[in-house]
Amino acid sequence: MEKMPYQPDMEVAAVPLSQADVTSSDWRAGLPVLASETVTLRELRLSDAPSLLAMLAADEVVRFISPPPDTVEGFERFIAWTHAQRAAGQYICFAVVPKGYDVAVGLFQVRQLEPGFGTAEWGFAIGSPFWGTGVFSEGARMVVDFVFEEVGVHRLEARAAARNGRGNGALRKLGAVQEGVLRRSFLRNGEYLDQLLWSILDEDWRQSKAVWGAKVH
Ligand SMILES: CC(C)(COP(=O)(O)OP(=O)(O)OC[C@H]1O[C@@H](n2cnc3c(N)ncnc32)[C@H](O)[C@@H]1OP(=O)(O)O)[C@@H](O)C(=O)NCCC(=O)NCCS
Repeated sequence: MEKMPYQPDMEVAAVPLSQADVTSSDWRAGLPVLASETVTLRELRLSDAPSLLAMLAADEVVRFISPPPDTVEGFERFIAWTHAQRAAGQYICFAVVPKGYDVAVGLFQVRQLEPGFGTAEWGFAIGSPFWGTGVFSEGARMVVDFVFEEVGVHRLEARAAARNGRGNGALRKLGAVQEGVLRRSFLRNGEYLDQLLWSILDEDWRQSKAVWGAKVH
């Protein structure tokens, strides 16, 4: 998603922070920790704010997305907001923590497009030192598995500015299907940009996983 649903001036309800390493079948009570060889995904913590600011405020990261908060305090409010939205069952935000790190260097966000999360939209941003390292593709696979298996999503959409070569390349590589062009749909720096609409369906995802599995064995 190009637009973070969070707006910096939103009121954030005082919701107790969830335990960082909750393993729960109910993601609304706290996100599970998802781990691969190179990356761990977990709930955001307030202590991620300085690292997220350093990683996500960079020009090359924000070029084609809605600008994230521009202060540590702004990111702390955003993090509290993600917990409240998750508890309300409307939105999920995973922190991206590469192997050997203990703070977030990026985010995967998923929001429901209808009550009950049948259709959802996701977006992602990762600090540029980690581009091309596999952190995105491994993290993305875990997020897609999670939303199809645990959240009940059946269609996962993404919108990426047509000029965003890496964003579109990353989606194509995952197996997302490009469905169309949303003409002049995204306002960035005073200019309306075209976006490409991508989707992944749960049945396609399961089928392609079966093929990968067949190749591996
Ligand atoms: C989008 C993002 C998370 C992807 O992570 P990443 O580590 O850069 O992604 P990857 O390197 O795994 O995949 C990108 C692919 O696009 C390809 N690519 C790069 N520039 C491209 C271009 N101009 N045209 C087409 N493909 C391009 C890369 O070669 C790579 O494919 P490869 O692995 O087969 O070589 C990261 O680039 C990012 O945070 N960008 C800024 C925020 C953003 O734009 N978010 C997306 C909103 S939809």
